[in-house]
Amino acid sequence: MGKGLILGIESSCDETAAAVVRAGSDVLSNVVATQMQMHALYGGVVPELASREHLRNIVPVVRESLRQAGIEAKDVDAVAVTAGPGLAGALLVGISYAKAYAYALGKPLIAVNHLEGHIHAVLMEQGGESAESTLALVVSGGHTHLYLAALEDGVWRYRNVGRTVDDAAGEAYDKVAKLLGLGYPGGPWIDRLSAFGNPKAVPFRFVEINRGTAEQPSFDFSFSGIKTAVLRYIETHGMKAAIEERRATLEKIDSPTLDDVRALCNAETLDLIASFQAAVVGNLIRQTMAAAQHFGAKRIVVSGGVAANKELRTRFETEAGKRALTARFPAAAMSTDNAAMIAAAAWPKFAQGEFAGPALNATPQLRL
Ligand code: KG4
Ligand code: ZN
Repeated sequence: MGKGLILGIESSCDETAAAVVRAGSDVLSNVVATQMQMHALYGGVVPELASREHLRNIVPVVRESLRQAGIEAKDVDAVAVTAGPGLAGALLVGISYAKAYAYALGKPLIAVNHLEGHIHAVLMEQGGESAESTLALVVSGGHTHLYLAALEDGVWRYRNVGRTVDDAAGEAYDKVAKLLGLGYPGGPWIDRLSAFGNPKAVPFRFVEINRGTAEQPSFDFSFSGIKTAVLRYIETHGMKAAIEERRATLEKIDSPTLDDVRALCNAETLDLIASFQAAVVGNLIRQTMAAAQHFGAKRIVVSGGVAANKELRTRFETEAGKRALTARFPAAAMSTDNAAMIAAAAWPKFAQGEFAGPALNATPQLRL
């Protein structure tokens, strides 16, 4: 079994990442080359450009991950790679590279679901294994899912008990930020600007959606309604001209600071931003708590890009505390896409001998 050194590779979206993790939780290196700045020019991820950037970055990123871990390629015990979900062309770069690498080294290849990776970004910090009944909320730019997770005979099993029926939470953040003339990705801007507005100024409401049946309850989300509500608010409150001015001004600033952006937002805009965030965070928490109560979960783990959100973290901790639950979040570097979480999720599969063959392909809509 060697030293349990797993090389993880992740290229599902706009981050080329490689990491070396020992025995599922000891992170020896975690290298991420982000393409965010490039895609920001287009206001979102451009798949074709993403694939090309992955091709350019994959070799130096993997080399750097080995260098930082202080090991050589031959020391690696297995190569783990994200097989989906994600952008087909982007995934293929990581998968092709991982296959060739594993083959050349004569080491096993392990396929990892990106969403399982996000969950393990939190579990790995808890030592990985736990019998505690766990509810996992994965909230990112592409996903909003609730899973019941349990370790059975060394194998993690997941049951999807909630999902978004339209936009992902991070997508709503990004779209609303765009509507307001803020930069991409919008989540971090809305997060930081919310502190300066009144979250109760605009009463956004969420309609109750699909609850499933008594035998098969579902705790679903919907975020496209609030995006439309923000758009309607902008139109009915005559905010368009100010938004265009803000967009044009921000385009001329190289790396705007929080002060730069805040100076371009009046009180009404800051109130709208804070109200939007309070509504989204409130909805995520309500559904998650309802599911936790229904299934009797003792621990909630929150991961994915939106898990970096400050208000989401504090409100989850408060609400969990009231119900004698624990709420766990990944460290900041582990909440956005990275390869350490992929290597961590691969560890139980390595122990079980759950390996992928040379026919491994990208599965853009892979489910967990
Ligand atoms: O997990 P991730 O890096 O990539 C995907 O797999 O999608 O998540 C990126 C998403 C973006 O939508 C971004 O706006 C959002 O996470 N995000 C945030 C924050 N930081 C990143 N949303 C809200 N608050 C934040 N602080
Ligand atoms: Zn992700």
